[in-house]
Amino acid sequence: MERPSWAPQGIDLSVPSVSRIYDYYLGGSHNFEADREAARKAMEIMPSLPKVMQANRAFMRRAVRHAIDQGITQFLDIGSGIPTFGNVHEVAQAASPQARVVYVDNDPVAVAHSRAVLEGNERAVIAAADLREPEGILESPEVARLLDLDKPVALLLVAVLHFMTDENRPTECVARLRDALAPGSLLVLTHASTDGSVFTTRQGDDIEGVYRNATSPLVMRSRAEVTRFFEGFELVEPGVVPMPDWRPETGETEDPSVYIGFAGVGRKA
Ligand SMILES: C[S@@+](CC[C@H](N)C(=O)[O-])C[C@H]1O[C@@H](n2cnc3c(N)ncnc32)[C@H](O)[C@@H]1O
Repeated sequence: MERPSWAPQGIDLSVPSVSRIYDYYLGGSHNFEADREAARKAMEIMPSLPKVMQANRAFMRRAVRHAIDQGITQFLDIGSGIPTFGNVHEVAQAASPQARVVYVDNDPVAVAHSRAVLEGNERAVIAAADLREPEGILESPEVARLLDLDKPVALLLVAVLHFMTDENRPTECVARLRDALAPGSLLVLTHASTDGSVFTTRQGDDIEGVYRNATSPLVMRSRAEVTRFFEGFELVEPGVVPMPDWRPETGETEDPSVYIGFAGVGRKA
């Protein structure tokens, strides 16, 4: 298989990557046949997945603007993905030129492409690090250079916690990050779930099956389980809800098949 110039050496192109599968759903070009095949299988089970991902991105942009409205200009976006339309630094820096963003991802393509996109941006950077090791993120040179953890930060865990199995102790990792944040900080989160949706648990299991051979397995969680990640944060209105229902602006979809998974924003008191 030919390796394009943007694909770092050492990655196995035959193993579907959760980052590149997502890039494919969003219409990006940083993906290989193994990624496209996995995405197509998932879309056979849930044809609305590309729209769900758009709703996820739209929620993220609304939450970033909410953070800016609260006076927050520091962003730590973990599991940031392959850059695409409307990235966090673009939304944040358009609203506040002083906004500073540290992206974190453990996928080599996401890291390499982010580096290329962020070249020359003094206030946005990517760290190659892993959510399963929060200490490594907090002690990274990128966080030290751009973020002041004594002041409020918006911590984004958008569409990433479902790539952590319970064995990876996601609750502890979120708590470690929360404890490092100043009061007034925000947790911005989305998570895959079939709970309360038009999709069955069986369809959820089938989607998990597609991701079983990918770079990370996918774990659906119930609304109650997703809400538990906000321990130590006060949920802002409207709480943990399907993504299009979080402070919708004009143009949010009403298609019921997009109301899958949950979004929420919490504030550390
Ligand atoms: C579905 S994408 C979400 C991208 C972006 N946050 C968004 O919502 O548009 C998930 C990203 O999380 C990254 N990821 C998965 N597990 C991770 C981990 N343990 N540490 C850091 N990044 C991780 C993947 O590489 C991928 O780029």
